[in-house]
Amino acid sequence: MRSKALLLLTTATAIRPTTRRAALGAITTVPTAAVAYDAANYDRYAGSYDDLDGGQAAKALGIAAARRNLAARCAGRVLEVGAGTGLQAPFYAANRDITEVTFVDASRGMLDGLRAKLSNAPLPFKTEVVEADAARLPLSTGAYDCVVDTFGLCVYDAPVAVLRELGRVVKPAGRILLLENARPSNALLGAYVDATAGAVAKYGGKGCRYDQDVEALARAAGLRVVRSERFGGGFFGSFELAPAPR
Ligand SMILES: C[S@@+](CC[C@H](N)C(=O)[O-])C[C@H]1O[C@@H](n2cnc3c(N)ncnc32)[C@H](O)[C@@H]1O
Repeated sequence: MRSKALLLLTTATAIRPTTRRAALGAITTVPTAAVAYDAANYDRYAGSYDDLDGGQAAKALGIAAARRNLAARCAGRVLEVGAGTGLQAPFYAANRDITEVTFVDASRGMLDGLRAKLSNAPLPFKTEVVEADAARLPLSTGAYDCVVDTFGLCVYDAPVAVLRELGRVVKPAGRILLLENARPSNALLGAYVDATAGAVAKYGGKGCRYDQDVEALARAAGLRVVRSERFGGGFFGSFELAPAPR
């Protein structure tokens, strides 16, 4: 089980314009500054991503339940960054307080999987898919009631920069909800994670550093930690963050 847990992770990096797709309609391209990573890295995981990260192991680790709980806490305009193939997307469907969801990811391959999911099972509100760097979102300041990131922080080149962006685009009274790999607080597990994180990220972990102190990253980005809960044996965390007063 633990080895599967270690594989529930990932990385990315590319230089391309932002592509925007409105409500499953025409795709338009939004010019944007070159991004500093190679998203093609994640393109190569797109075909197999759901089998592992969305499969039975993820369910047994409590990830499906955590996704459901997170979706239930959203309302209004929702932004999900690092949305990948859209494993979180179906969980929004039951929440009638959501008015729209914008999905962002840097990997076109991963977003193809997301678009397929939205085409096969459309959500009951407006959806938009934006191909962009989460550290430089082509989105307005203070525009979203709820900003979501699930298992993205461990693969971002610049997680603090991404968290700052999440704090910029959320409304002053909005919430930032994360599900993330997080360094266990248990001393033994923490030491194990410290010793193995580099190798796991490199071999089989799709670039994911699972030793991150998510709360410290949030504070470094100027965000306030409102709630923090662990699950999956302490290897995963559910976090609610709030933006700094503007
Ligand atoms: C581990 S996957 C998580 C996907 C999804 N959120 C989930 O819960 O399954 C990490 C995602 O982050 C994306 N990503 C990595 N760096 C990024 C960046 N700088 N900007 C936007 N997306 C990025 C990858 O393409 C990948 O889809």
